Amino acid sequence: MSHAPLSEVRPGSVGDWASRNFRAVLVIEKYGIDFHDEASLSLEEACSRRGLDPAPVLAELEAAARPRSQPGGGFEQASLRELIAHILSWHHEYLKLELPRLRARLDRMASRHGERDGHLLERLHAAFCELQADIDEHLHKEEMILFPFIEKYESAAGRGLPVPPPPFGTVSNPIRVMEAEHSRVHELLARMREITRGYVPGSYACANYIAVFHSLEELEADLKEHIRVENDILHRRAEAFERRLFG
Ligand SMILES: [Fe+2]
Ligand SMILES: [Fe+2]
Repeated sequence: MSHAPLSEVRPGSVGDWASRNFRAVLVIEKYGIDFHDEASLSLEEACSRRGLDPAPVLAELEAAARPRSQPGGGFEQASLRELIAHILSWHHEYLKLELPRLRARLDRMASRHGERDGHLLERLHAAFCELQADIDEHLHKEEMILFPFIEKYESAAGRGLPVPPPPFGTVSNPIRVMEAEHSRVHELLARMREITRGYVPGSYACANYIAVFHSLEELEADLKEHIRVENDILHRRAEAFERRLFG
């Protein structure tokens, strides 16, 4: 299989689009375009070979390649329930979609090219698998234990009903466990950044490789923001809420 190094890729070509991020790679694959062998073709040429109208393909690629923007602040006015809804819909849903897709791609890349470059892909794959397993378990705990409890606190207090005593002593106990797990996520992200030398691809890297690096960097940024919102805003406000209720 020939891999076109990114330095040789023309703007607007299949290789250029494929290297944007992993979601763009999936769009290209969906249309049966070969981002390795057809990397140097313009998107229009690759579409016309297949009798495809390039306009909708281009529109889909532009949407997929757009960087994931972080919604800025504004959480101070939100209720705890609204804050949790934001975390679930913006961060948890993203992880549930993105982690399995990235994992499938890294499985394939590590099995084909794992030994290259000091076993970089093998090491990256191992760190990613650990991250994915930790996050799956962590999201489950938040969604089944901590978040419903915080919502129950807020809704009972808001309706003037008696507030149930926390089954775990104080809300700070599960919060402490979640924050220890957040620290572990930070460690694994740092390990992945070190393995990939700051996500700078080697000169041998093809578009797919670059795309996966871009998507891992996006994942890192998203996880850092997710953890910041939980640690600095949700947890602190839930503890303050509890202090107001029980003195
Ligand atoms: Fe979370
Ligand atoms: Fe969390």
